[in-house]
Amino acid sequence: MSDQQSAAPVVAHTREEFKAAREALSSRDVAVVMTMGALHDGHARLIQAARQRHDHVVVTIFLNPLQFGPKEDLSRYPRTFDADMEICRAAGVDVVFAPTPDVVYPDGDPGVRVAAGPLGEVLEGASRPGHFDGVLTVVGKLLHITAARSAYFGQKDAQQLLLIRRMVRDLDFPVDVVSVPTVREADGLAMSSRNMYLTESDREVALCLSGALRAGADAAAFGPSAIRRAAREVLVEEPLALVSYLVLVHPHTLADVPEWYRGEALLAVAARVGTTRLIDNTPVLVGPGGGALDVFSDVPHARADV
Ligand code: PAJ
Repeated sequence: MSDQQSAAPVVAHTREEFKAAREALSSRDVAVVMTMGALHDGHARLIQAARQRHDHVVVTIFLNPLQFGPKEDLSRYPRTFDADMEICRAAGVDVVFAPTPDVVYPDGDPGVRVAAGPLGEVLEGASRPGHFDGVLTVVGKLLHITAARSAYFGQKDAQQLLLIRRMVRDLDFPVDVVSVPTVREADGLAMSSRNMYLTESDREVALCLSGALRAGADAAAFGPSAIRRAAREVLVEEPLALVSYLVLVHPHTLADVPEWYRGEALLAVAARVGTTRLIDNTPVLVGPGGGALDVFSDVPHARADV
């Protein structure tokens, strides 16, 4: 079917509506893509990847209050439901589950939550206490409610992806977790719902994140300190980006890799640009012949001199 001809997805707002829509699907081979709405091409790529491998795709759209701190952007987070539905329709989504908080948390704040543990306290977790407990709690609930066979998540949120994989393994969730590489704008900026907050000049400043990752990955052959130095040099050139962290860490432990380390590592950065906190990362192969391990190679250089 072409984009124009795809049927609109069934929209379910309540658990009962979702259950009925889920039971009406012709096959049990169902994948889920969880989102907070404000969908963009990154979300669409997740849906496409799921669509290619499964008979049915369910998308959840739920702005989860549990994962936002009191001073974070829950109230101003973009809400674009009609446009989201259009993206879901064009991508061939079968069911959209768009509950309100009282549907997901009928008794209010859940007293019992999934604890992310030490991996949830570093990097994003260090500046967003409780964030990953909130993420894992809702992901766990939505895995139960949707009963999907596979769940698709983006590499863009590498720490979230790692923690979801750990939860699924540690707590025996019967689901395959599939990751999808970060989708970027043509100039390298990682797509994000929060990019909508950026002014035109913020948008220019924001390019230093992907520029730093690219420069770091280009130095991969020379080892960890060369990678960190090359990335840092790009960031210091952009004083308007307030860097929260720039790290080269082991992809499973999130611990800084030592100078002798060779193999796969995660180069990750977070910075505030204007009023917006942005994150980005790339998997990097450290050592001779190394470099970026994601779709970076398709992206034009963000710096003219590299
Ligand atoms: P959200 O930020 O809406 O992202 C939904 C999914 O899309 C996540 O798996 C995220 O990693 C992925 N994604 C976002 N931008 C992407 C990009 N540029 N390329 C590839 N994938 C991208 O992440 C969340 O929502 C929430 O924490 C959620 C998991 C839904 C739990 O509330």
